[in-house]
Amino acid sequence: MSELNNIALKILENGKGILAADESTGTMTKRLDSVNVPSTPENRLLFREILFSASSMSECIGGVILYDETIKQVSSKKNKIPELISEIGSTPGIKVDTGAKILAGSPEEKITEGLDGLRERLKEYYKLGAKFTKWRGVYNITKNFPSKLSIQSNAHALARYSSLVQECNMVPIVEPEVLMDGDHSAKDCYEKTSEVIKKCFDELILHKVDLKGIILKPNMVLAGNKSNEKISKEEVAKLTLKCLKNSVPSEVPGIAFLSGGQSEIEATENLDLINKNNDTSFVMSYSYGRALQQSALKFWSKDIKNIKGTQKVFNHRARMNTLAAQGKWSKDLEN
Ligand code: 13P
Repeated sequence: MSELNNIALKILENGKGILAADESTGTMTKRLDSVNVPSTPENRLLFREILFSASSMSECIGGVILYDETIKQVSSKKNKIPELISEIGSTPGIKVDTGAKILAGSPEEKITEGLDGLRERLKEYYKLGAKFTKWRGVYNITKNFPSKLSIQSNAHALARYSSLVQECNMVPIVEPEVLMDGDHSAKDCYEKTSEVIKKCFDELILHKVDLKGIILKPNMVLAGNKSNEKISKEEVAKLTLKCLKNSVPSEVPGIAFLSGGQSEIEATENLDLINKNNDTSFVMSYSYGRALQQSALKFWSKDIKNIKGTQKVFNHRARMNTLAAQGKWSKDLEN
């Protein structure tokens, strides 16, 4: 099992983070629609290949989460995509859940599916070169939610998933995402995130998951995006650290935050402050989707043949986040 611990540590070593490029075809189509690029398999691959072959990959990106379509695609230079990622010095991973569906018994909430046939799919992904995996549970904060049912059932699914993934010698990323949507306070987010994470670890332990061989991918503790509360960056860092210190067992080697709808700069600044104040034993890095890709996608959409220019935009964001993952970022470096 120490092999899994080594993979987890390697993905997050020296301020490296994870590029979450695992948008489902539906989500990627929305992203491409928003910049007026047709969502074809070729265009989805073209954009992603530009990122995967950027120079910041070897210094900043320890792992890439792929989607089923991408892990089976072949690059313009006829490389298999997982090979392209390994050769540049990063680690290929794969999203294995099949999405969040309506939770029977609490239809306003979601349960993530994908356990049926998972063992067989994992074996296939392992053969394709994946070394780690991702599964995301989602929780909404409102007056009555997340319910005990959603907290319990998503934790159970995350634990069954993790156990199967470790059986196949890969590192599971455990992603319980408490959404930013809503008018809740940062205190509500703190309490619900703590409850959700604690329940996940109860279930992971029950399912005999080796905690040294996982990566936790949580949300930061933020006020809801429709809340009037003005919470400082310092307070976000303080509450996030307090939440994780109190709910994550010390064996866990690394934490990689999702960006969850924060702007690129916000996600970098918050990560930096978390690291400047990190009094835990955990490596605290990033596993960003939108906060790593937004500007690059916008730039690329203006001329999809401008590979170098797009990579420059992506390299900058990757470098800023890798500095933030070491508490070495400052605003003047953005210019
Ligand atoms: P965002 O950073 O855009 O939230 O995406 C991360 C992710 O992988 C969500 O599952």
